[in-house]
Amino acid sequence: MESVPLNKALASAIDAAKAAGAIMRKNLNAEKKANEITAHDIKLELDVRCQKLIEKKLHAAFPQISLLGEEGDAGDESSDYRWVVDPIDGTVNFAHGIPHASVSIALQVQSPKSKVQSHETLVGVVYDPFQDELWTAIRGQPARLNGRVLRVSKRRHLNECIASIGFAKNKTNLERALPYFTWLARRVMKIRMMGSAALALTYVASGRLDIYIERGISLWDVAAGGLIIECAGGTFWTEAIPGRYKYRMMASNGLVDKKLPKPK
Ligand code: IPD
Ligand code: CA
Repeated sequence: MESVPLNKALASAIDAAKAAGAIMRKNLNAEKKANEITAHDIKLELDVRCQKLIEKKLHAAFPQISLLGEEGDAGDESSDYRWVVDPIDGTVNFAHGIPHASVSIALQVQSPKSKVQSHETLVGVVYDPFQDELWTAIRGQPARLNGRVLRVSKRRHLNECIASIGFAKNKTNLERALPYFTWLARRVMKIRMMGSAALALTYVASGRLDIYIERGISLWDVAAGGLIIECAGGTFWTEAIPGRYKYRMMASNGLVDKKLPKPK
């Protein structure tokens, strides 16, 4: 496949993210139809509706690129490029009317060098429709928030850091994360659990948070945010674990990594 013009890909991802974000904003306080409710998760009809809209827009701009999404896949899986989409990251917050959720869209290309499976992220967009904050990155260029260049924080000591930790959806992940949580809580200034992994990553990229850790995270939660952190000077580490596109991950400002064990 011919190489994809990354500025056009970024513009298309922004357009799709903003369109899905407008639906989220409009429906924050509306009654929402749940397609599925499990012990630690909710799946909404709106997750599917937002993904369909994103799919439609991205397909219109790049018909040859496949899509891997939290709500299902589209197109030819063996294509060189793929979009990785989380239409609503932070669904449980959104379902409860908590305005902290986002749209996450990444463009990846097959590459043996990559840290995230066999693909490397080239473009990342995360949009918070409630704050109207748009994070963007193209590999090799600075990350931006609403057009302004960003950098990670300069904090070097754990006791000055705010760390965010995510508790993924199943028992194994929860049980492995809890001892890490108690270890970390004793060492950092504050712990936060905000409920959107994509936003936690962009908050690290923006220097608001210093660390984000989760075991059992999915590719669509972190593909865009991971690139945004790297382009803002931070570090993004992942390792595959059993499950469909599942990882353990740690992201930070790059200055405190050596003081932190990797999540098991
Ligand atoms: C979830 C959120 C949450 C994280 C979970 C994710 P969803 O995504 O990012 O913060 O802890 O692991 O699955 O289900 O709201 O899109
Ligand atoms: Ca998600």
